[in-house]
Amino acid sequence: MSPVSDSSNRVIPGPQEPEEKTYHPSDGLFTDAHVPDFDAYLALYKKSTEEPEEFWADVAQEFYWKKPPSGQMLQFNFDVNKGNIYIKFMEGAKTNICYNVLDRNVHERNLGEKVAYYWEGNSPNHHQTITYNQLLRNVCRCANALKLLGVKKGDRVAIYLPMIPELVYTMLACARIGAVHSIVFAGFSSESLCERIMDAQCNILVTADGVYRGDKLINLKKTASEALERCKESMASSVQKCVVVKHNAFRTNSDASNKLQTPWDESCDIWWADLMDGVSDECEPEWMDSEDPLFILYTSGSTGKPKGVVHTVTGYMLYTSLTFKYVFDYHHDDVYWCTADIGWITGHSYITYGPLANGATSVLFEGVPVYPHVGRLWEIIEKYGVSKFYTAPTAIRLLMKYGREPLQQYDLSSLRVLGTVGEPINPEAWLWYYDVVGQQRCPVIDTFWQTETGGHVLTPLPAATPLKPGSATCPFFGVQPAVLNEHGEELEGEAEGYLVFRKPWPGIMRGVYGNQERFESTYFRKFPGFYVTGDGCRRDKDGYYWITGRIDDMLNVSDVCSGHLLSTAEVEAALTEHPSVAEAAVVSRPHAVKGECLYCFVTLKDHKEFNRTLMEELKRKVREKIGPIATPDFIQNAPGLPKTRSGKIMRRVLRQIARNEKDLGDLSTLADPKVVEVLFSQRWEAAA
Ligand code: PRX
Repeated sequence: MSPVSDSSNRVIPGPQEPEEKTYHPSDGLFTDAHVPDFDAYLALYKKSTEEPEEFWADVAQEFYWKKPPSGQMLQFNFDVNKGNIYIKFMEGAKTNICYNVLDRNVHERNLGEKVAYYWEGNSPNHHQTITYNQLLRNVCRCANALKLLGVKKGDRVAIYLPMIPELVYTMLACARIGAVHSIVFAGFSSESLCERIMDAQCNILVTADGVYRGDKLINLKKTASEALERCKESMASSVQKCVVVKHNAFRTNSDASNKLQTPWDESCDIWWADLMDGVSDECEPEWMDSEDPLFILYTSGSTGKPKGVVHTVTGYMLYTSLTFKYVFDYHHDDVYWCTADIGWITGHSYITYGPLANGATSVLFEGVPVYPHVGRLWEIIEKYGVSKFYTAPTAIRLLMKYGREPLQQYDLSSLRVLGTVGEPINPEAWLWYYDVVGQQRCPVIDTFWQTETGGHVLTPLPAATPLKPGSATCPFFGVQPAVLNEHGEELEGEAEGYLVFRKPWPGIMRGVYGNQERFESTYFRKFPGFYVTGDGCRRDKDGYYWITGRIDDMLNVSDVCSGHLLSTAEVEAALTEHPSVAEAAVVSRPHAVKGECLYCFVTLKDHKEFNRTLMEELKRKVREKIGPIATPDFIQNAPGLPKTRSGKIMRRVLRQIARNEKDLGDLSTLADPKVVEVLFSQRWEAAA
């Protein structure tokens, strides 16, 4: 069969004509799939791009509206030459996302007694079951408590919590009363937290006293207090109250709270339990305009300063709901588990909003994959009968190291779909996931997307899409990708270049908080008329997309369960803050488990000595400034850096040195080629 062409003559894949070995979902497993085969996918895709108004109106029908959508569904401008960039979806319709993911399930769909979350703590002895009824009541109490603190529609609330139910309660409580949540991953440093609080001018911070991650006790409140101190020092502090969940005392070691010194400021701090005491468990939702902001989530920027990505209510609600339903082929009796942290977009979209919008039962996991033993993930899959599982390539590579034995101790026969996200998955890890975890029964769904896209944009669908290990395959409904060359010319058919999108879909970001200029320059100025992802990609002869990695100075770093973006500039800024460092240049180097890691070159000031102590100090500096996820794996002394005659550091050369690639190509623009030899002779082979 030859590749099919859609109306614009772009090649879209023909399922029978693979470039290399393809994998088909096993017969019989998906008798009731929402999208049963590739033709059904093509038909729906066609409708979503040719008749988007009808397509999205159908999706919207399932939701509750105070004032229903009318008029134009989608308005946008993607061309900087034609004025401001904007995206508006169902503007004027009134709804509330919290109502739709909770009250609608309880009151209209009779799901009140259904389990919303199985919370599984860091320790296997700690778990809790939360039904939709209970979730709704707890969210309402939290919403009323926030109101008592004076929070109102449009106010920003910073949330710095571990993976405990209170994190979900707080974010949904914000959504219920129209406050904008800004969740900061609980592994970030006080400086990173402060920077994010200040940028969004948050009025309230919600945190916890402490948390165990594996066997490590983390004093979260100490970091939160330090962040608030920093905010105060800058004279622009906005936070009036800090709400503190007492976590350790009742869910982990009974003596943990004694080990922690919880700093306390009577004028600002308040215990969660005291605040919730006696508040009502009913709360009328605030009816929001479709385009009112729902949340801000910070993501690294190539200039070093994080960008507050803004998502709005309706588009995000419809998009996360629909992608969840189709990409995981969700059915009512599924038990779904996404191992990401809610501090990242994966958790926002596919632990909270998408699954709840569908009335799904999810596992909410606080721990790490190898604590207290390396079979923990498999144990949890067996314990709850998980059918749809979503994790990151880094977790798969980590667990691959321990071989098959830990898996063989558990019954994984409940699994149906295996998802992955966060970075390109290498075929070896893909095959291990498919063969060993899924027993060749379960399709591996490689989902490509970003904080900015709100939900999946390139992804297979479990029963429909023939799979190729390492490819995120085809666009989701409503998404129109294109591949451009350096001059912005669109490439047809088989091609490699910049991955861009020609039109918005409902879940795409609406802006960078407080910075329209940065929004436009980051995503729209390079190629007017397109949203630029910042990723490179290849499209093969079947029309499948293969992400080739970042094309800017960003890299995908990973913690144990998820991959996310970091800019080399922010790490360089941290290194040069050290008094001994004159200059720093940071590049990425491939890493067997993490995918990519940080390789740093530092030039010291005169008479400063490079030694182990300095290396440790520099690592600490980066950890303190950004957070443990940014800890460099390699730091190399660089008496000189390879620079052009105009003084620009040639990062390409540094990347090649870090990777030990000897064929350096054209070095004629280098001011002093000898520098390269010196750096090669001193490079790190193995981790420092
Ligand atoms: O480089 C791509 C990579 O992660 C980036 C987005 O990072 P972040 O906003 O932190 O969101 C991560 C979770 C959605 C992308 O620009 N990326 C994400 N998923 C994939 C991927 N690269 C290749 N394949 C993927 N499936």
